[in-house]
Amino acid sequence: MAISLSPLNLPASADASKFADFGRQVEGVNPGSLNPEEFEQVRDALYKHSVLLFRDVSLSPEQQYALTKAFDPQSESYGHGNNQTEQKKHSILHPYIKTIPRVPQVQLIGHGTVYDHEGIPEAVLKHAHHSSFHKTRISAEDEAKGATRFYRWHMDAALYDLAPPHVTTLYGLGVPKGPRQTCRYDVGTNDELSVSLGTTAFVSGRTMFNILPPELKSLAVRSRVKYAPHPYTWMAPAHALSTGLGLETEGLELPFDQLPPWEESKIQILPMAWQNPVTGELHLQAHPCAAAEIFVDPLPAGSKREGALYPDGAHLTELKEVRDILYKIQRPAIAPSLVYPHDWNENDLVLFHNRGVLHSIVGVFGPDQVRIFHQCNLAASDLPVGPSAADIEKWA
Ligand SMILES: [Fe+2]
Repeated sequence: MAISLSPLNLPASADASKFADFGRQVEGVNPGSLNPEEFEQVRDALYKHSVLLFRDVSLSPEQQYALTKAFDPQSESYGHGNNQTEQKKHSILHPYIKTIPRVPQVQLIGHGTVYDHEGIPEAVLKHAHHSSFHKTRISAEDEAKGATRFYRWHMDAALYDLAPPHVTTLYGLGVPKGPRQTCRYDVGTNDELSVSLGTTAFVSGRTMFNILPPELKSLAVRSRVKYAPHPYTWMAPAHALSTGLGLETEGLELPFDQLPPWEESKIQILPMAWQNPVTGELHLQAHPCAAAEIFVDPLPAGSKREGALYPDGAHLTELKEVRDILYKIQRPAIAPSLVYPHDWNENDLVLFHNRGVLHSIVGVFGPDQVRIFHQCNLAASDLPVGPSAADIEKWA
């Protein structure tokens, strides 16, 4: 049976012209039991449209794992590794993830206390709150009126040892409803975004690249980002910007010699722009919090030097400079008009191209609001592919 695709409902805040290719609702197939032909259509749609939504889905953890794995059959372990071992307990991700014992690639995430769930007798879940990560926080008074923030813009990736997952699947089993909230940027502009309670916000890495001015496109296609070893432990003492798009530079990161044991060979240096495996387009994909250094290649022979940034290449090792560049490149794409905040319904399944979008947790739940989600992504069997020779010629 052929799948049917329809555009997602965009919020009034969205600039529809920038979302023409972004996001589709999929109907006509059961994502838990796709035949090979249906899977190929879903795969093609995912890479073309970045986010796919299936409504009213019934999906076991085994089926969710199988669906996620189908995008990369050689992948096996969860994106951050199957064993969330002792040495990872200081990672900032540790409190938010509970592994489903039967299918360790699928994680239980959400908010509140969940009992007798998929072999877990009791789990206390915590929806990440910006006060645990941002340097500044919204006042209790404003929060009571519904103000919130993007918690952290990211892709799902260990960025050390394990390759970034191609796809993440997010399945909403328990979706508390409540008044809409207002996501604030708190950067001195009036930027804000009306969101449903507990939305997941997405921005397109393709749009992030496409809207850049020529000198930043040139920089992006010539750059590689070097990530810190054990980045989520490294950044644990640091504080984020109020946009959730990167960190303040205050010298708080853990010194490398205080991290769990690490090896140079497992450190990741990844292109700043990644090729889409189906469309060939470039997606700007960098994790602004985990980045430690940037390598810039010189302009290719014959390129225009006028106005070019780092025309002779560079190796940037000052965190402030690295972060300022990434912010300049990424900030335009999280403007309210470019954010798709998904309005969750119970039994929604969202698949997203983790190598093609950034996403963020948003919102604040009350103590009695129980949110139950299953999340799966798998450390990939390959590394992202950077700009082609033709891309360099076109953009550098
Ligand atoms: Fe995530």
